[in-house]
Parts: sequence; structure tokens; C-alpha cells
Amino acid sequence: MAKLWGGRFARKKMDADVLKFTSSIDVDKKLAEYDCVSTKVHVQMLCNAGLLSNGEKKKLLGILDGLLDKIKKGKFEKLENYEDIHSAIQDYVEKKAPLAAKKMHTGRSRNEQVVNDVRLYCKDNIEEIQKLILKLQKTLTHLAKKNINIIMPGYTHLNRAQPVLFSHLVMAYVEMLGRDHERLEGAKSRSDVSVMGSGAIAGSALKLDRKFTARKLGFNNISANSIDAVSDRDFVVEFVSSLCLVAVHLSRICEDLILYSTAEFGFLEIGADFCTGSSLMPQKKNPDVLELVRGKSAQVMGALNSLVILLKGLPHSYNRDLQEDKKPLFESVDFITSALQIMAGLIASITVKKKAAREALEDEFIYATDLAEYLVRKGLSFKDAHEAVGKIVKHCIKKNINISDLSISELKKFSEELDKNVYGLLNPEVSVENKKTPGSTNPKLVKKEIDKWNKKLK
Ligand code: ARG
Repeated sequence: MAKLWGGRFARKKMDADVLKFTSSIDVDKKLAEYDCVSTKVHVQMLCNAGLLSNGEKKKLLGILDGLLDKIKKGKFEKLENYEDIHSAIQDYVEKKAPLAAKKMHTGRSRNEQVVNDVRLYCKDNIEEIQKLILKLQKTLTHLAKKNINIIMPGYTHLNRAQPVLFSHLVMAYVEMLGRDHERLEGAKSRSDVSVMGSGAIAGSALKLDRKFTARKLGFNNISANSIDAVSDRDFVVEFVSSLCLVAVHLSRICEDLILYSTAEFGFLEIGADFCTGSSLMPQKKNPDVLELVRGKSAQVMGALNSLVILLKGLPHSYNRDLQEDKKPLFESVDFITSALQIMAGLIASITVKKKAAREALEDEFIYATDLAEYLVRKGLSFKDAHEAVGKIVKHCIKKNINISDLSISELKKFSEELDKNVYGLLNPEVSVENKKTPGSTNPKLVKKEIDKWNKKLK
């Protein structure tokens, strides 16, 4: 295939193995549409600058429109012999209009072209992923609202800690995803920079209208330094690092759901559509989708690693190493997109098991903090209150009894301030309703949070 750089070389053809090794077409063909649209804008800009005639412009735009159509229909094929998507598009146009196509690459370099395309790709995909995050948040908020009356043990160190609303846990997921959305907004603004006109490194001696190109491509800013423009991949790292946290969050949600749907916990059930069976054990219903979201999330963490390692030793400005940024980027985007989609469906399929959650609250040690705080309200120092309740727990473990099995006189041995009100505290509803601090698991406050998010997500 014709090269964009053949003149300097004596040979006619590139060695097949070297071409195969250096080619990025398998990966960057994903950028075809962006490259084609950007080339159209470049052609218009060249014509405005007097570097292409009107006739040449029309011819080139017609060909590029035809190509765009092919790309959209998935009919731009036989790409395997090209170095990259930029060369493939150039060659396509050259075959149709050899003379005009010779001028098409005036005032631009693939070094900036590839950054331009990747920036457009990032902007679009960040927006798509943000939409999917909102959708998942909506599904979660709906689940929280529907199950507002369910109280379950909250866990720290994966040990029963204090009673919490199931909805409170679900709204914790909504908060995490909210931060992801915000981080992506930041990544989007840093992607929103047009680099065209930077040339290979130094800018151009031709009078190119950078602002025209930026505006036509929907960029709100133009880069300030041509060296930085062709070597900067911060926006890719920032995007993937935001996705990395989405992956971490999804993975943690999955882990919760896997645990809580086991027979051991039994607090919820995942819809059968999102589970698979075992080829050997007939009774099994396994949460494979959750396990795979958790498992595949590792890819995004690996991708972020690859990217920063790729960049750390690179001299300025462009080096071919940079070609390797696209695979980790695209793979991360593809995975997060599919994971967010499937998780929204899965969350909607969840049924919560009120009875099992209730039974798990029968072990009254989960109210130990409520008792200690009761004593504080009665005037004890927290340390003394903690000590007294700790001793009650120790005593009950030794005797193999619950706290409510103790009589008032027995309770008084641990603290004079303990009275008949204590028995009323050993209750899930009372425990959550007694919470006062903003952000706590008090049902009134959780409902408010649900309403707040519902409005925000509309
Ligand atoms: N395909 C390359 C990339 O993705 C762009 C081409 C730049 N090549 C070059 N020899 N300057 O980074």
C-alpha cells in the first residue's frame, strides 16, 4: 500500500513482517469515523486558507462523505495491509482522486491527527458512560425506595456491626457512582482540546485556522503548546483512571451482592437471568455475572498501569510507543460500558429477603453501641459506657444467652444507669430511628436522600 512517507526510502515495499509488527490498524480502525469527519473539516479549512481550490474541496468532501457512509455501515474493509487508519483513509481517497488527495494531508501530521481522533473518541465515550452511570444510579435509587422498610445488619470487618437500612447501603453505591460521574466530567473537560495545527511537533508555516477546525469539530479549546499537544496523553490516563474507580466500585458492589445472596447471608436473591447453573451440581444457581464484572474489572486496573508505565520514560514529544495507548483505552471503555449496562439489569432483578435480614438481627450484640450511647445520654463517659456494655457482652457469651435474657437487677450489676428502657433498645426499628446525625441510617434521612437523588437523576 502507498505510504504517507515513501519518498525518503529507496525500497518500494515495506517488509511484511515489519508492517505487521508496526501496524495499529486492528485497534485504531475504531477511530475511522472520527478520522474521516476530521479530515473533512481539515479539507474545508485548507480551502478557506486558499490551499485547496473549491473544486478540489468538493471532490474530496464527496469522496469522504461516501467513505463515511461506508464506515457507518461497517463496509470499510480490507484494512489489514495498512499501517494505521490515517493511512488507510488517505489511500482510499488517493485511489479515487489522486491529484486532489495529494493536497489533503497539507499542514497536518499523523502525530496530531491521532491525538485529535482519540480526543473525540474520549469525549463521546465519556458522555455515553456518564449516561450509563445515571441509569444505574436510577435503578439503585429505585431499589432503595422499594425496600425502604428493610433493616439488615451492617458489617465492618465483615462482622456484624450495627443495624442499617438495606436502602442506606444501596444509596452508598449511588454516592460512589456520583463521584465517578464527577470525575468523568473533569476528564471530559481535559479531553476537550483541539490539537490540529500543531503539526508533527513545531506547528506549521502555513496559515491554518486552528479555531475554525476546533469549532467545527466541537472542541471548546485549542492547545497552547505544539510539543505538548502531540506528546500529551494525560487525558487518556485521566479517563482510564476514572474508569478504574468505576471498575473498583462495580467490583465492590458485586462482592456485596455475591455475599448477601449466599445461603450463609441470604438477604437477597439475584434474578435467574443473571445466574448460571453447574454442569455437575444440580442444585446450583451461581452469580456468574457478578463474578465476571468483579473479575474483568482487573483489566481496567491493568490498563491504567500499562498507560502510566508507557508514558513515564518517554522523551518529548511524539514517539511510536504512544500508539500503544489505544488498546488499554478501548478495552477499558468497552468493558465499563458493558458492565454498567448489565449491572443496571441485574440490580433491577434483585429481590430482598426481609425475613432473613430480620433473623440476622436477633443476635442482640448488634445493639451494643445503642446501649453504650444510651448510657452516654444518661451521663456516663463513653469510655465507661463502652466498658460496661463490653462486660455485658462477655457475660452473655459465657452464659450463652442474649442481652434481653438478663433481668434488670442483673443489668444493674454492670451499670446503675441501666433500666427497663434497655429492652426497648434491642430492636431494629428503634436502633435506626434513634440515629440523629446527617448521613446516618435514620429512615427519615435515608428517605430524604432517596428523594434528593430522584430529583437529581430526573
Ligand atoms: N499510528 C500512530 C499512533 O497511533 C500514529 C502515526 C504516527 N506515526 C509516525 N510515524 N509519526 O500513534
